[in-house]
Amino acid sequence: MTETTPLLAMRGICKYFGANKANDSVDLTLHRGDILGLLGENGAGKTTLMNVLFGTYAADEGAIEIEGEPVTIHTSADAIARGVGMVHQHFHLVQRHTVIGNLMVGQKGRYGLLDRAAAKKRLAEIGEEYNLHLDPNAVVSRMTVGEQQRLEIAKALYRGARILILDEPTAVLTPQEAEGLFRAMRSLAAKDMGVIFISHKLYEVREITNRMMIMRQGVVTSTLDNSADLTDRRLGELMCGHELKPPVKPPSERGGPLLKLEGIFAGGSEDRPVLKDFSLDVHAGEIVGIAGVSGNGQKELADVIAGVLQPHAGRMVIDGQAIDHPSVDVVKKMGIGRVPEDRMVTGLITTLPLSDNMVLPRINERPFSRHGLINRGAIRKFVKEQIERFSIKTAGIDVRTGTLSGGNLQKALLARELAFDPLVLLVAQPTRGIDVGAMEFVHRQFLEQRARGRGVIVISEDLEELFTLSDRIAVLYEGKIMAVLPAAEATSQKVGLLMAGYREAA
Ligand SMILES: Nc1ncnc2c1ncn2[C@@H]1O[C@H](COP(=O)(O)OP(=O)(O)OP(=O)(O)O)[C@@H](O)[C@H]1O
Ligand SMILES: [Mg+2]
Repeated sequence: MTETTPLLAMRGICKYFGANKANDSVDLTLHRGDILGLLGENGAGKTTLMNVLFGTYAADEGAIEIEGEPVTIHTSADAIARGVGMVHQHFHLVQRHTVIGNLMVGQKGRYGLLDRAAAKKRLAEIGEEYNLHLDPNAVVSRMTVGEQQRLEIAKALYRGARILILDEPTAVLTPQEAEGLFRAMRSLAAKDMGVIFISHKLYEVREITNRMMIMRQGVVTSTLDNSADLTDRRLGELMCGHELKPPVKPPSERGGPLLKLEGIFAGGSEDRPVLKDFSLDVHAGEIVGIAGVSGNGQKELADVIAGVLQPHAGRMVIDGQAIDHPSVDVVKKMGIGRVPEDRMVTGLITTLPLSDNMVLPRINERPFSRHGLINRGAIRKFVKEQIERFSIKTAGIDVRTGTLSGGNLQKALLARELAFDPLVLLVAQPTRGIDVGAMEFVHRQFLEQRARGRGVIVISEDLEELFTLSDRIAVLYEGKIMAVLPAAEATSQKVGLLMAGYREAA
């Protein structure tokens, strides 16, 4: 092995799903100390390539070398034994176990006190060396998403990873947590490990990587060194293969209120509600952004509006009609559409065919069913139209929903709700995990709803997104509205301070 032998070389990797070439002769080289950004449109084949490296899928063709040595990786155990670790977007942790318990999973059989002490010692070392501090006795179910992710990384390192794959790790993190992750990634690279980083947030990729590889339709289209003259726009265009045109927000013609929330107390307990005296109006032709760090009442707010959560007190008025007993059905009938934040848990049933998911909330309505009978023809027609309209990449309408790439799942959810032309559309983190091209498309859809005199509520942690779309931005902090700012007055500094609880900023 010479100095120039790469840490990892994947050569000519092909992976087919039926006729779909998810990876087509892909070459990837990773050197010691590299943080390699893997970029590409939704469905380009990024996760598939990483699943091949981690042994989740067997490649149809191609070879892998680690530190100059040919390796066969058939299972994730093979991958781990070769020093490859992967942190998936959906964590693989035992929720009721502690940090140490999770670290030692698979080490069973000789689970003595000595082993436990050794594991604790190693965890502390990993924490020091790589900026991954964790309380060994914390129970996973009570940890934040950021902490759980740190544990996933620590677990990979504990098992001896030298190559770490991070598949959209920042999609679930607050900006502060993302900074922490980047510190850890830099420490890893400084210790001569290699990191592969997948993200659709181009500014992040520019910030943290030293090299990038761009894929399109299963093929590597470019490999480049990170340099200052690479802008988000240039990167986006390399990814999409065409020019990007960010949507422009025309002046709005605001109409009457479509949704009024008045003095809502909800969530938690009656004594200690999460949402406290929450009041907000959404007007026709208006996009209202809800800014705030996740966990400050966003979920409760969305659940109240969607009729999932009964408020302890307060009133909701939809299109001039007070709703005394909100329920999912009532609220839906009155014209509220919802795209939930967690597409895999509350949004879609991944084991069902795509076509079923696309009509799931309205399966009992016309034209999908008539006189209690399901109309398959109408469903197929509808689903095909939506796939076309949103350019959802799928092998067909009958595929298992879980086989779609992350971004395409999100597009399917959005298509489903928009198709019913809701009076008020409520979306949470609408462009999480979708590529820049698709993001612009989705933003355009919201602006179109606005132009048609509908209302849209966008809950997002992405301030750029809120600034692009919103007419007004409400900042949520500890269940209360800190301020509602007209878009023209909302600067990222002001909103940032309000998000952190500094009311004076308004
Ligand atoms: N298990 C599977 N069965 C069938 N098709 C699959 C499977 N996994 C992935 N695919 C298909 O392979 C292609 C590449 O998907 P992949 O998940 O690798 O994309 P991606 O680049 O990670 O996209 P995203 O940015 O949306 O996560 C897609 O067309 C997808 O539908
Ligand atoms: Mg993916």
